[in-house]
Parts: sequence; C-alpha cells; structure tokens
Amino acid sequence: MKHLKRILILSLCLVVLCGLSGCISVGDGRKIIRIAHAQSETHPEHIGLLKFKEYVEANLGDKYEVQIFPNELLGAAQKAIELTQTGAIEFVVAGTANLETFADVYEVFSMPYLFTSEEAYHRAMNNVDYMQTIYESTDEAGFRVLTWYDAGTRSFYAKKPIYTPADMKGMKMRVQQSPASVSMAQAFGAAASPMSFGEVYTAIQQNVIDGAENNELALTNNKHGEVAKYYSYTKHQMVPDMLIGNLKFLQQLPEEEYKIFEEAALLSTQVEMEEWSKQVAEAKQIAQEQMGVQFIDVDLQPFQEAVAGVQQEMLAENTSIQELYNYIQGVNQQVQQGIPETDTQVTPVVPETPAASGAQATPVVPETPVASDAQATPAVPEMPAASDVQAAPAVPEAPVASDAQAVSETPAASDVQVAPQVDSVQEGN
Ligand code: GCU
Repeated sequence: MKHLKRILILSLCLVVLCGLSGCISVGDGRKIIRIAHAQSETHPEHIGLLKFKEYVEANLGDKYEVQIFPNELLGAAQKAIELTQTGAIEFVVAGTANLETFADVYEVFSMPYLFTSEEAYHRAMNNVDYMQTIYESTDEAGFRVLTWYDAGTRSFYAKKPIYTPADMKGMKMRVQQSPASVSMAQAFGAAASPMSFGEVYTAIQQNVIDGAENNELALTNNKHGEVAKYYSYTKHQMVPDMLIGNLKFLQQLPEEEYKIFEEAALLSTQVEMEEWSKQVAEAKQIAQEQMGVQFIDVDLQPFQEAVAGVQQEMLAENTSIQELYNYIQGVNQQVQQGIPETDTQVTPVVPETPAASGAQATPVVPETPVASDAQATPAVPEMPAASDVQAAPAVPEAPVASDAQAVSETPAASDVQVAPQVDSVQEGN
C-alpha cells in the first residue's frame, strides 16, 4: 500500500514537472487531462464532469484521456486552484469565493441577497456572452473559467435552531474564505469562522464551531446533517462553482479542439443543472427522514435588513463589481417583470449613486425546491467524512475573523507551491 502511494506521489510530481515544462503527454501517448473537485462521486458536479469526459473522449479520444479526482483528493479548493495555475493539473472546480483574491470582480457573488430568485441567478449565469469577460478576468493569474455549475442557495445550519438574526448572536459559524462572507456573518451577529470546506464536518462535530452555511446537499453528500440538525432557510447567497482551466493548456489547443472542450463544458453545465434540481429535493427528504434534520422557514426580512449595509460597503469599496452588479439587477428586474429570457434584452440597472444601489427594494424571496412526496427515497450517498478523505486534518481551533481582512489567505500567483502534498491519489471515475 505504502509502495503504491509512493508511486502515485512520484508520478504526480513527474506530471507537475512535465506540466511546468509544457510537456503533458503521459502513458500511451494520449494526454491525461486531470480535473480536481471537492464533492463526492454522486454529486451533480461529478455527474456533469462525467459528461465532460464522455464528450471530450468521444470527439478527441485518440488524443486525450480525462481523469476526475473528487473529494478534495488533490487538496482543498485553494490548493487545487494553485495546481491548475501551475499546470500540474488542467482543470479544477471551485466556488467563486476562492477566486476573489485573483480577480476582485468575483466578490459580487458573495454579496448577500444579490439575486432575487433562482430564475434570475440561472438566467444571469447562463448568458455565456456576457460571462465571457468575467471568465477572462483571471487570465493574468494563469487560468480561465470555462463554465459555471449551480451550487444552489445557501442557508445557515447549526446545532440549535435559528429563527432570527438575534438567534445567531455569539454563534461561531463557518463561512467561505471570503471577506464579504465574513462581514455578512458578522452583520447577522455571528462570530465568523472562515475555513476550507473539507474541515467543516469535524469542526462541527468537535464543537469547534456551532454551525455553517451551505446548500442542502452539504447535509447529505458531505454528511453535515449528522452533526447539525437545524437548517434555517435564510437563503442569503447563491454562489456558483466554476470549471477553471489552466490558461496555457487552453491556449495551446488547436481551435477545433478548444471548441470541443468548450462544448463539453457547456454540456456538463446542462447535465449538472438538471441533476442539481433533482438532487436538492432528494437531499432535503433524506436529511429530514433519515438524518433527523429539521428545516425551518424563517422570515427573511430581518436577515435582509441586517446585511443591507454589507451590500453598500461592498459597492463602495470594490468598484470592479459595479458593472456586473448592475447587470444582475437588470436580470432580477427582467425576471420580476416576467420578461422572457433573451441574451440581448437585459438593461443594466444603473444606480444613481453607488450607495443608493445597495438599498435594493425588498428582494423577492428565492424559491427553494421542496422535495416532492412522490419521489422514491434514494439511499444516502456514501461519502467519507472530511477527516477520512484528507489525511485527517486536525481542526484544533477555528479561527474567528475579527475583521474582513483576516481571511485573504490565498497566496499570490507568484508564490504558489509547485509540488503538491498528496498522500493518496485515486481516480474517481
Ligand atoms: C459548496 C460549493 C463548493 C464550496 C462549498 C463551501 O459545496 O459547491 O464549491 O467550496 O460549498 O462552502 O466551501
């Protein structure tokens, strides 16, 4: 076993060196395309990525073999992004919170109550032409987004019920490693504890934190429902995940091959989105019936009011989000007015003053799909606890962010590590 691990680590190091020197061919002459992600093999993103693999191999199978590494096997999101930057691997799926330190336009997605409905979220993200300029904003960092994946609507869950922001007072809540998410949790009255996704289960289990916030799949796929029994629908964020590619790899592809990768990416999004809406309903049912999680509908207004200042601060402090923010407000308005979807009709809502833009009219409460009674109850997908997947990260103490600056942990592009610290590598497909 040890011997096998050593061989796997050695081969990955070799690939790192090859990647750096521009040589990425391995084995039978076909190039190995590696994709890292943080979710289990039953998660919609993994299923979407299987479609990506199938399409690329169906069209370019003589040249490429696509390998998918789930469960943070190649490291947590920030580490996996670094591997993609250096060319050690070709692709990674990561949430936009992890991209904020590379291109600050991505901060907009951490803004609480940015989208007023799931429909507006999907419509804005599916506008491929508009999103392209956003996707290119990390070119300087050496990677580019190819497509997005639905990661649902985020709400708080904890060991005790939350009905109003007052209930969160003093609670230690894990948020994503993004300054805006820290400010948001603090505005709700909680002590924000930014940490990587894979550490959350153990941190809740060991009472290092009281809870976290995420979509419903975190309860089942990541088993957080075993340790946190109250899920309160605060619906405060819709943060997309992104399929990110190494720029050098993408740019050296001949045009027709690039097109295949692009088509594969779009197809993977379609599959992922369909799978998402199915699985989110199932997850709720499983969490409720098999894990004993209680779902709580809360009055959103006090939550929205608590973070109105955060929206304003973000717009005042980061001017690079203004244009995308205006565009999203345009889409929100379009959906609210029942205007059918077209790519060209969105009229950005330009606020009179940046401060005024933060004071949105009371947003429409996003619709969260409800598990239909008719659905068969699937078995809880098997996923090892975070501690099993990553060489058991000890979670001795949760850092509590005293201010939003404290979380900018992502190293600059210039000091990314080259040799990945992987204890075991398994291909998950
Ligand atoms: C979701 C999302 C991940 C993200 C995670 C988190 O699961 O899909 O990309 O990393 O939330 O809260 O960190």
